[in-house]
Amino acid sequence: MNILIINGPNINFLGTREPSIYGNESYSDLVKYLYDYSKKNNHYLEIFQSNHEGEIIDLIQKNHQRFQALIINPAAYTHYSYAIYDCLLSIRMRKVEVHLSDIYKREEFRKISVISPACEKQFYGKGFLSYIEAIDYLCEEEKLWLLN
Ligand code: DQA
Repeated sequence: MNILIINGPNINFLGTREPSIYGNESYSDLVKYLYDYSKKNNHYLEIFQSNHEGEIIDLIQKNHQRFQALIINPAAYTHYSYAIYDCLLSIRMRKVEVHLSDIYKREEFRKISVISPACEKQFYGKGFLSYIEAIDYLCEEEKLWLLN
């Protein structure tokens, strides 16, 4: 399966930012971990990160036709970006939302995701494994769809 992964602001600061919440591993550890997993399982991945809302939208608009699914961790934009929400509504590929931390066990404002109504599922609270759960979910669903 071809999957586009997009990470939002400050995800590139993994390992430095709040290690008690996000762990000690770096963003390049995350990228390597996901590429290694996808190679082992014969998936094709491309992974992007941006600290800018408009750039995230540009990345989605530019790349959506080349991929079957999008995994997005919009980071803080999760909680207020109607621009990213509108962008997700406008594309036809499958979309899944991911978070490293458990957004339901932190500050009140994190409990609200304005983008989740545009996504078919949300995975959170498992660190790097949240992304693996999202990849496995997309591939499982794809297999079921092919069987039917
Ligand atoms: C995050 C959770 C967001 O609330 C936060 O702003 C982030 C990261 C996560 O992956 O846990 O930057 O999306």
